[in-house]
Amino acid sequence: MNNVPLIQLTSIYKTYHTGKISFEALKDINLEIQQGEYVAILGPSGSGKSTLMQIIGCLSTPTSGSYRLLGKEVSQLSSNELARVRNRQIGFVFQSFNLLGQTNIVDNVALPLVYQRVGSVERTRRAKEMLTKLGLGEHLKHQPNELSGGQKQRVAIARALVTNPDLILADEPTGNLDSQSGQEVVALFEQLSSQGKTVIVVTHDLEIADRMKRIIHIRDGKIVNGA
Ligand SMILES: Nc1ncnc2c1ncn2[C@@H]1O[C@H](COP(=O)(O)OP(=O)(O)O)[C@@H](O)[C@H]1O
Ligand SMILES: [Mg+2]
Repeated sequence: MNNVPLIQLTSIYKTYHTGKISFEALKDINLEIQQGEYVAILGPSGSGKSTLMQIIGCLSTPTSGSYRLLGKEVSQLSSNELARVRNRQIGFVFQSFNLLGQTNIVDNVALPLVYQRVGSVERTRRAKEMLTKLGLGEHLKHQPNELSGGQKQRVAIARALVTNPDLILADEPTGNLDSQSGQEVVALFEQLSSQGKTVIVVTHDLEIADRMKRIIHIRDGKIVNGA
């Protein structure tokens, strides 16, 4: 099982249709990522980084091509099936946090466990434990709206980790943060990587990418380096 690539993308294309106009956002992407790798995805704005991350993260499906996640073909799954894979195996962190602003942070973090049918007492226990691990133990009663950007992103990371996924995906996770909070967030990803998680981070920041073991460059929807 361990030598099956975690991610195996073969001839992936993604075309968006807006009215009569179609746009090929990904063209012939071929990529393998092994379990435990720590990978940066780098490229100019509009080059297809988020599109690629959404496909890897089972938030969307490719127009054509094959995506095997731990050997299982997921490119043609229905949205319900994709949601199940996502909930079980993947933690996603977004630039814009995507938290419920007026719900306390414990309930935000516990939400993925609702879909796993974990009971409410256990959900709360696990959410509090994860938030405390990430240094938010003093803020358990707060809502995201009451926190700083760096704290919000740590809540989002706690939510991504609470289901104990193998794969952590982060799309420009430091894009809305000051540099100090950004560094704290990057340190968290480094820690996860050293614990054996597979971590893929989209970033504009060359300094961040330089600290990662593998850098994939994407331009105009194609991987130009690092595949
Ligand atoms: N939902 C969508 N509908 C139509 N075009 C889209 C959509 N999402 C992204 N695009 C287009 O696809 C290209 C790649 O976008 P994206 O993957 O978000 O790039 P990046 O994350 O590298 O900035 C861009 O030209 C963008 O305008
Ligand atoms: Mg993007």
